[in-house]
Amino acid sequence: MRWLCVPENQPADLTCSIKTLLIFAPGAIFLIQMPSRKQETVLAGMDQTAKRKSSHVDLVLNEKIDYLKSTGFEKYEFVHNALPEIDFSEIDTSVRFFSRKFSAPIIVSSMTGGFDRAARINSSIAELCVERNIGMGVGSQRQALQNDDYVESFKIVRKVSKEIFVMANIGAAQVADGFALREVRKIIDMVDADSLAVHLNALQEFIQPEGDRNFRGVLNGIGKLVSAIKIPVIVKETGAGIGAEAAKRLIEAGVSAIDVSGAGGTSWAAIETLRRSDRRVGRKFWNWGIPTADALVQVNALRSRNKIKLISSGGIRDGLDVAKSIALGADLCAGAQPFLKALDKDGSRGLVKEFDLWVEELKGVMFLTGSKNISQLKNAKIEKVSL
Ligand SMILES: Cc1cc2nc3c(=O)[nH]c(=O)nc-3n(C[C@H](O)[C@H](O)[C@H](O)COP(=O)(O)O)c2cc1C
Repeated sequence: MRWLCVPENQPADLTCSIKTLLIFAPGAIFLIQMPSRKQETVLAGMDQTAKRKSSHVDLVLNEKIDYLKSTGFEKYEFVHNALPEIDFSEIDTSVRFFSRKFSAPIIVSSMTGGFDRAARINSSIAELCVERNIGMGVGSQRQALQNDDYVESFKIVRKVSKEIFVMANIGAAQVADGFALREVRKIIDMVDADSLAVHLNALQEFIQPEGDRNFRGVLNGIGKLVSAIKIPVIVKETGAGIGAEAAKRLIEAGVSAIDVSGAGGTSWAAIETLRRSDRRVGRKFWNWGIPTADALVQVNALRSRNKIKLISSGGIRDGLDVAKSIALGADLCAGAQPFLKALDKDGSRGLVKEFDLWVEELKGVMFLTGSKNISQLKNAKIEKVSL
């Protein structure tokens, strides 16, 4: 229900629906606009989406929602170099990604937007990106297409800085055949995006009580998107991993980057299971997915003939995971849960501190493998160990 207060000396639009009630009071006429049935459905839906997004953040912060299996990075060890012959203070962690230069091969993954707290989370992440010259993603912007109230929580990243690298975000189901290009352009413009991340989240949608289970036409839609928009299209998973078969098809569709976002970190099956009263099916899929290290190795093997960029995410928890990812072929790493937790625990300072620790650990690996820069780290000796 919406209350409109129209001063008596101004013309009121009385052509609105018959569900408009007029109440006369001294000096003003109150119009009580009752939403139409269609509006009611949208409003109820929006409320529910905002609640869902908020509960996702709460569950990540307060519950055990990690995979119970690992990323697989523990299967790899760098070969220690007792004679690194480099000065720690001269180690350069900077990388080029598309047309940008970041201070380190680390970005903050697509996470949130669309409810009150989300604006604060996104602005704090944007501030980290300014301070440390890295990039970030915003969470799915679908909701903001339907209701302007949610636009600000995404747009805020550009209020913080016009310069930082920002990835817009939309779900696979929304770009399936027949998507509206106008809407995709709207979400890109909303954050003046440098790239568009399309997330593949079939596992989450399957377990989510209100999930969208129609993934037909997604690949075709991604192909159309690639030819229709000017900025790079990054396709990412949300923790269940992109393996060789799917990656091959995405490369053929012309995507600019793949973020494998594999298993071993945040489990979206876990999060959605905890939102259900009936948890049996969800529990069975808690650990579903391709571990991040395996996904990375598989997709990297396809790259010799292709120029796509490769991002490692899903369970990246420190600078050692970052270093191993780079040595296994990644151009960049992304983290979601650890940055959200650091921000929640110790505010903006905690967020910057977490990032700085990752960089310190990354530099440690570079020092001990004699890698002066990220190109050298890509060729550092790493071995698969038997556990
Ligand atoms: C609170 C939260 C919300 C997320 N929302 C989105 C989203 O809207 N779009 C998306 O592409 N990924 C989303 N993700 C998934 C992350 O980008 C990432 O792929 C996944 O969490 C695995 O990384 P992690 O183990 O570092 O958390 C979200 C993650 C978290 C923690």
